[in-house]
Amino acid sequence: ASAAFTIAIDGPAAAGKGSISRAIAAHFDLAHLDTGLLYRAVGAQVLTGSDPLRAAQNLTADDLQGDSLRSAEVARAASDVAVMPEVRAELLEFQRRFARREGGAVLDGRDIGTVIVPQAEVKLFVTAAAEVRAERRFKELLASGAETTFEQVLQDVIARDARDSSRATAPMVAAQDAVLIDTSDLTLSAAIAQAIAAIEKDFPNEKP
Ligand code: CDP
Ligand code: CDP
Repeated sequence: ASAAFTIAIDGPAAAGKGSISRAIAAHFDLAHLDTGLLYRAVGAQVLTGSDPLRAAQNLTADDLQGDSLRSAEVARAASDVAVMPEVRAELLEFQRRFARREGGAVLDGRDIGTVIVPQAEVKLFVTAAAEVRAERRFKELLASGAETTFEQVLQDVIARDARDSSRATAPMVAAQDAVLIDTSDLTLSAAIAQAIAAIEKDFPNEKP
């Protein structure tokens, strides 16, 4: 079963997708791809004047590194380029190949369970109340030295979720067969435990 086992994790900004994905990947010994980094890297290059499609075509592993990708400005730029069908099409094959790699993989994003790997063995949709997510992201931004306010972060999160949900191509939506995990009232370790339990319930006897 480990040959091409894929776990797809989708959900809105700061729901806990990345933290849960990293923990699951470590727990089950799977590779992990944060697909938001692909869009953030393209967005970051557009902010310096690049053409979005060319940036997507020429992405390298080095482009996915660096703390600058975590800024609010880059998050907005990412969601701007994420509405472009040609940018999404350019990034699709890399994500599919990663998903089907030998040994299995966890991918987190917005459209993993619906568009990138609709046949994924496990799909989770991780969410939380907007105020809770904004508070988490606000703390992260403050810790990284950014000057911002809770109100600004909340507005950003709400605007980005609305754009991600309403775009025509690959909108953010829970797959019909996704397990929903609401982390509003969960500590990170409780959220991770719920995710692992959901996976082990369907695959009790194997390393996914
Ligand atoms: O990947 P995504 O944007 O969905 O979220 P994340 O980067 O995993 O989590 C955003 C922040 O929320 C991190 O600082 C997590 O530690 C925190 N978090 C939390 O405090 N409680 C949870 N249940 C989930 C995440
Ligand atoms: O960390 P956070 O959840 O705030 O954002 P992210 O996962 O890094 O994604 C940044 C932006 O990239 C999102 O707001 C989406 O517009 C876009 N994205 C997407 O369209 N599809 C994905 N699979 C992942 C990210």
